[in-house]
Amino acid sequence: METFDIETFRSAAPYIYAHQGNVFVITIPSSLVEGEQLPALIQDLALMQTLGIKLVLVYATGIFPLSKTNRPVIDPKKLLKVQHKIGELQSRIESLFSTGLVNTPMAGMKLTTVSGNFVHAKPSGVVDGIDLQFHGEVRRVDTQAIQDQFGHGNIVLLSSLGYSPSGECFYLDEYDVATTVAASMPSEKLIFLMDEKTLQNSRKQRIKFLTLNSAQELLSRRKTLSKTLKQHIEFAINACLNRVQRVHLLSIDVPGALLQELYSHDGAGTLITAEHYNDIRPATIEDVGGIISLIEPLEAQEILVHRTHEQIELEIHNYDVVERDGFVIACGALHPLKQKNIGEIACLAVHPDFQKEGHGNRLLKHLEQKAWSLGLNSVFVLTTKALHWFRERGYRKSTIDELPVTKQKTFNYQRNSRVYIKSKK
Ligand SMILES: CC(C)(COP(=O)(O)OP(=O)(O)OC[C@H]1O[C@@H](n2cnc3c(N)ncnc32)[C@H](O)[C@@H]1OP(=O)(O)O)[C@@H](O)C(=O)NCCC(=O)NCCS
Repeated sequence: METFDIETFRSAAPYIYAHQGNVFVITIPSSLVEGEQLPALIQDLALMQTLGIKLVLVYATGIFPLSKTNRPVIDPKKLLKVQHKIGELQSRIESLFSTGLVNTPMAGMKLTTVSGNFVHAKPSGVVDGIDLQFHGEVRRVDTQAIQDQFGHGNIVLLSSLGYSPSGECFYLDEYDVATTVAASMPSEKLIFLMDEKTLQNSRKQRIKFLTLNSAQELLSRRKTLSKTLKQHIEFAINACLNRVQRVHLLSIDVPGALLQELYSHDGAGTLITAEHYNDIRPATIEDVGGIISLIEPLEAQEILVHRTHEQIELEIHNYDVVERDGFVIACGALHPLKQKNIGEIACLAVHPDFQKEGHGNRLLKHLEQKAWSLGLNSVFVLTTKALHWFRERGYRKSTIDELPVTKQKTFNYQRNSRVYIKSKK
C-alpha cells in the first residue's frame, strides 16, 4: 500500500505559508528545457504556483557559452538563430504547462503562461573596438506589467531577448535578465538551476548556506571549483550586490530539488544571502513556540536543561533568534545577573540542519557584545556537551564558587554541568 508521509507534509506547512504571495525568479538551463527532466520540473513549478508562489521563469538558449568577459558579436544571422531557438523552447515549455491529463500530478490544473516585451534593452555597443551589434544589455524591466500578469494568475516566461524603444530586438545574457527582474521587484528569491553538481565543501558535504562574504572568500580560496559552479557563484554574488537578498544554487541532477529546497528544513542546494550578519534579532512572544520546538529534542537528550513555556515567555526579552523562512533555526539568551556584573549565556542552540554554518558563533558573539554593552564584565555558561566549543571561543574553565550566590543556590548538582567563564577584554 502506498504510504502518505504526513510528517513531511506537516513540516512543509510553515514554508507553504511563508512563501505564499512571494515572487520567485528561476533560471532554467537549456539542457533542462531540451532534456527529459523538463516534465518533472514543470510539475514541480505547477505545484509551487498552486501553493501561491508568483513565478518568473527565465530560460536559456545555450547557444553561446556563459561568459561575462567574452561577449559574442550578434549579427543579424545569429539573432535569427536565437529567435528560432527561443520559439522552439518556449513552445516546449508552454505545451508542458498545458498538460492536464488524468493520472498526472497536473490533472485538473489550469495554468497559463505569458511572454512579452517585459524587458527593455539597449545595445552593448562597441567593446574593445568591436561592435557587438545585436548584443544588448537590460535597460529596464516593466515590473508593473509583470505584476499585472501575476494578478491574473499567470506565470511569466522570459527569454534572453529584449526590445529597445526604437523597435529593435537584442540578445541578452539570461542571468542579467533574471538578476535585473529579481532586483527590480520585491522578489523573495532568485533561483539558479544548474546543469552541475551541488556545491560541496572539501569534506564532500553540501554547502547549504553562504553569506556574501563567505561566497567571495570561497571563490578566491577554492581552486578546484568547476567552471560552471564558479560562474554561478559569481552570478549569485553579483545578484546579492545588486540588492537581491537571497540566491539559491540548485543542481538539476537532484530530483525534486526545487520542492526540497523550498519546503524542507534541510533543502537541496546552496543559499547565498546578502543578509550579512543582521539576521539575528531579539525574540518576541511569537517566537516562544519556535524556540521550544528547537530546544525540545536537546532537552530530551539532556544537552539543554528543561525550560517551561512560562519560563521562556517571562524571559523572552533576554532571547535572540535567527529566523529562516518563518522558522527559528537558532536561539540563545543572555540573562544579566546584577551581582558581580556577570551574565549567563544560556539556551544556545542551532537546529541540526543548520549547524556548522557559523550561526552558533555569531549568536555567541552577539550575546557577548550585548553583555559588554550592558556594562557586564564577564559572562558564564553551564554546559555538559559543548565544553570544547566554548573553550575554543575564549572561555576558561571555572567552578561554581565563582558564580553569583543566587546561581550557586539553584545549581543542579545532579546534572553536573561544567562552568566556563569569559571576561571582557
Ligand atoms: C554548540 C552549537 C550551538 C554550535 O552551533 P553551530 O552553528 O554548529 O556552530 P558554528 O558553526 O559556529 O561552529 C561549528 C564548529 O563547532 C564544532 N562543534 C560543534 N559542537 C561542538 C562541541 N560540542 N564541541 C566541540 N566542537 C563543536 C563543529 O564541529 C564545527 O567545527 P568544524 O567546522 O571545525 O568541524 C550547536 O552545536 C548546538 O546547538 N549544540 C547543542 C546545544 C548546546 O550544546 N548548546 C551549548 C550549551 S548552552
